[in-house]
Amino acid sequence: MSSEIHFITKNFGKYDPMSIDSYLAIGGFNALKKAVEMDGEDIASIISAAKVKGRGGAAYDMGRKWSQARAVKGEHKLTICNADEGEPCTFKDRELILHDPFNLIEGMIIGGYTVKAQDGYIYLREEYRHLRPLLRNAIKQAEERGFLGNNILGKGFDFHIHLYSGAGAYVCGEGTALIRSIEGKAGRPRMKPPFIKVSGAFALPTCVNNVESFCIVPHLLLDDEGEYTSHGSGESIGTKLVSVGGNVRHPGVFEIPFGTPVRDIIYGLAQGIEGGYGLRLIQFGGASGRITDRRILDVPYTYDDLKENGVTVGSGAILVIDDRTSVIDFLRMTQDFFSHESCGQCTPCREGNLHAKIILKKIADGTATDSDIATLKKIGSIMSLSSLCGLGETAQCATLSAMEIFPEAFAVGGAR
Ligand SMILES: Cc1cc2nc3c(=O)[nH]c(=O)nc-3n(C[C@H](O)[C@H](O)[C@H](O)COP(=O)(O)O)c2cc1C
Ligand code: SF4
Repeated sequence: MSSEIHFITKNFGKYDPMSIDSYLAIGGFNALKKAVEMDGEDIASIISAAKVKGRGGAAYDMGRKWSQARAVKGEHKLTICNADEGEPCTFKDRELILHDPFNLIEGMIIGGYTVKAQDGYIYLREEYRHLRPLLRNAIKQAEERGFLGNNILGKGFDFHIHLYSGAGAYVCGEGTALIRSIEGKAGRPRMKPPFIKVSGAFALPTCVNNVESFCIVPHLLLDDEGEYTSHGSGESIGTKLVSVGGNVRHPGVFEIPFGTPVRDIIYGLAQGIEGGYGLRLIQFGGASGRITDRRILDVPYTYDDLKENGVTVGSGAILVIDDRTSVIDFLRMTQDFFSHESCGQCTPCREGNLHAKIILKKIADGTATDSDIATLKKIGSIMSLSSLCGLGETAQCATLSAMEIFPEAFAVGGAR
């Protein structure tokens, strides 16, 4: 059985999250001191060489994103740390902020330096209001010590961090909705282009990254021994925080090396299913992720291996459901979530979610017809092809994957 790794989480419990002095005592801000002696393009190259992919869900090449953001022309540029963490069963960013707020601030300053931004925003979900004092304090102390503000470390580089709280909408984790929310508008996605990197918040060039993405950077810059790159293989290098929840004995956030078998995560780190029940299904990557069953247990947790087996890393969530819940009941719960969280702006998502909910109820009641099942499938594919944003595109992932993995649950007149 595998054990946890502590690379991204190596500072956890090692310092007082309210004290910059205790952070400095463990080498805090050494990565920033190193970064400001480097060319920003070289920082982006280090991130690319380690094949770091953004941890918000889309797994975009992070070094490439920073290099592109750096190349965008603009007198005033922004970065945003996406701390919305609204994806169900995802709670890794909360742990990073709670135990290591200064590392996040340091990662954001390095990000600002790399992409040549002057201002950074942290968009913190409302439900994490208890983390606000930690972040406010970390920003204030970093300003007092000259790590934030004007002429940082005497290098003529200015960077300021602003803390912004969302109001609790899941869709506000989507980049363009998040930006509108920061601007004080209703948090609804908009069409792209213009792309955020060219015209983001306040129409300024903006680079958006997840909390975990920023948190990797200070550790990576100081990793002369190549500890990070010694883990994983192929496109999945390094370590990853996973949030394991649902019917497991020991839910929590674990840092694993890429390549850890799913079985070791669920039955090792999370200690298996509580109460001796059987495993019904596992959902990867949050409510917008696909589901599968025990056939995934011996698959290594990597981007490629999960994809080959019909699921994705996504937000890093692993939700385990035991056999007390039927597949259809699980899907109805997921569908309730999306019907509630759809912003209603575009027809495929607004109407599709509503109709999917109605058909799932009919399946649960045993009144669905063959035509209903065909319509459900059609709704899923239309939504994924024609919704305006990622919420609508992925809302039916769970249902469509369930149709492949659990066809018996959709058999007309079959047992539920
Ligand atoms: C509906 C929806 C919700 C999202 N929620 C989050 C979130 O809570 N946190 C996050 O980092 N990314 C979220 N994303 C992904 C972001 O749009 C974006 O890709 C990410 O913040 C970029 O950071 P990264 O490149 O470091 O992953 C969401 C996307 C969609 C479509
Ligand atoms: S896909 Fe859904 S959440 Fe996204 S813009 Fe359309 S209605 Fe809103």
